[in-house]
Amino acid sequence: MSIPVVTVGQSREDVVGGLERLHGPVTVVRRCAELTELLAACQSGLARAAVVADGCEGLTASLVDRLGAVGVAIIALTDDADEAARLRGIGVASALTGVESAALAGRIAEAVSQLTGAATVATSGSGLGDTSAALRQRPADQAGVPPASGAGKIIAVWGPAGSPGRTFVAANIAGELAADGKSVLLVDADSYGASMAAVLGLLDESAGIAQACRLADQGLLDADALLKVANPVTTKLGTFRVLTGITRADRWTELRAAALSLVLERAKEVADVVVVDTGFCLEADEELSFDTMAPRRNAATLRSLELADTVYAVGAADPVGVPRLVRGLAELELAVPNVSPVVVMNKVRAAAVGRSPERQLKDAWGRYGPSAKIEAFLPADSAAADAALLGGSLLLETAPDSKLRQAIAKLVCAPVQQSSRSSVFSSTPRLQ
Ligand SMILES: Nc1ncnc2c1ncn2[C@@H]1O[C@H](COP(=O)(O)OP(=O)(O)OP(=O)(O)O)[C@@H](O)[C@H]1O
Ligand SMILES: [Mg+2]
Repeated sequence: MSIPVVTVGQSREDVVGGLERLHGPVTVVRRCAELTELLAACQSGLARAAVVADGCEGLTASLVDRLGAVGVAIIALTDDADEAARLRGIGVASALTGVESAALAGRIAEAVSQLTGAATVATSGSGLGDTSAALRQRPADQAGVPPASGAGKIIAVWGPAGSPGRTFVAANIAGELAADGKSVLLVDADSYGASMAAVLGLLDESAGIAQACRLADQGLLDADALLKVANPVTTKLGTFRVLTGITRADRWTELRAAALSLVLERAKEVADVVVVDTGFCLEADEELSFDTMAPRRNAATLRSLELADTVYAVGAADPVGVPRLVRGLAELELAVPNVSPVVVMNKVRAAAVGRSPERQLKDAWGRYGPSAKIEAFLPADSAAADAALLGGSLLLETAPDSKLRQAIAKLVCAPVQQSSRSSVFSSTPRLQ
């Protein structure tokens, strides 16, 4: 069967006209005046492939993702090698220069079959382009962050509504891993209430995550560019980098899934561990409605959870927080089926659950909770948490000997200063 193709723009060699004259493996069903018309045509199910004969500068990762989601492969024509690399980086199937119509038809067929083969990957949430295409040599990090192995892991810190301590736990995990000699990038991907900059005492208005997503969307996020928009944070025991969150909640549209995927993929190249502070909400609002390209409010959280190697599910240990966590874990299983969350009970205190709070929580969890057991109990320690907050600092500085700090360190590192291997990332060689 002939592949229906929509096109936009004219190339010098009139390859589109050539495609029409082929009367063969592809059929040009519409010539569009601009990319928005091309997108609309694709969303209405008209085509299996789109040829962008000129104006490919307008192609972004989000647009490519949307076309991929409706099963359309994109082939862009360009004479510029850098532009071709950029296009491959955002997932454009082929970027050809001076190609004959017959060869182009062959590339279209190939791109369509590749997209069909890749469909399972796309639905599992990766939505990535050829991320190695834009990869340059990893630059030396000038900020004092140790060099990365190039194959980092992602930790997502999630938890239900009610401020169970996601940001606090994520920040302190990052600090502990940096203290353990790891190269760490902390990412604030909360699309409702970003607060990492404030927690770390940064006077930051730059929304590093939004900048990184913008660059990724344009296919311009290489390792250098990522390191430039990620602030270094130095503690007594180590330095890590942070991509600060959006400065106003209404900027959530800047955190699109396709762009964030590229940011996280690139992040894994510049850091051994990427710690992502996520939002609470897991509702899957539809990205593709028939006549719009609505972004998803929860895309950043969902995509972070889909791409994470380890998910910490943080709940507040009180009569409101525990049932919320139980319900949240059921929602998490539905939203991201393959995830096996590490359940963390935070702010554990007798005053909220009774004497021997850990035992009480374990018993209640055994009776009413899901099968995933509680892996960690982080004690409530308002004095330590407030001192850290006031100083824009971390527990390893303000309360280094506190049980709370030790419990967080134990979560991600082997018993503090005792072992040379991380318990979560036992396959990651220690860097020192
Ligand atoms: N173990 C703890 N003991 C005492 N206070 C804590 C503990 N963990 C977190 N907190 C405090 O609880 C408050 C909420 O924490 P945090 O901002 O990390 O929550 P969150 O889940 O990220 O909430 P949000 O919905 O605002 O993103 C902060 O003031 C923090 O310092
Ligand atoms: Mg938070």
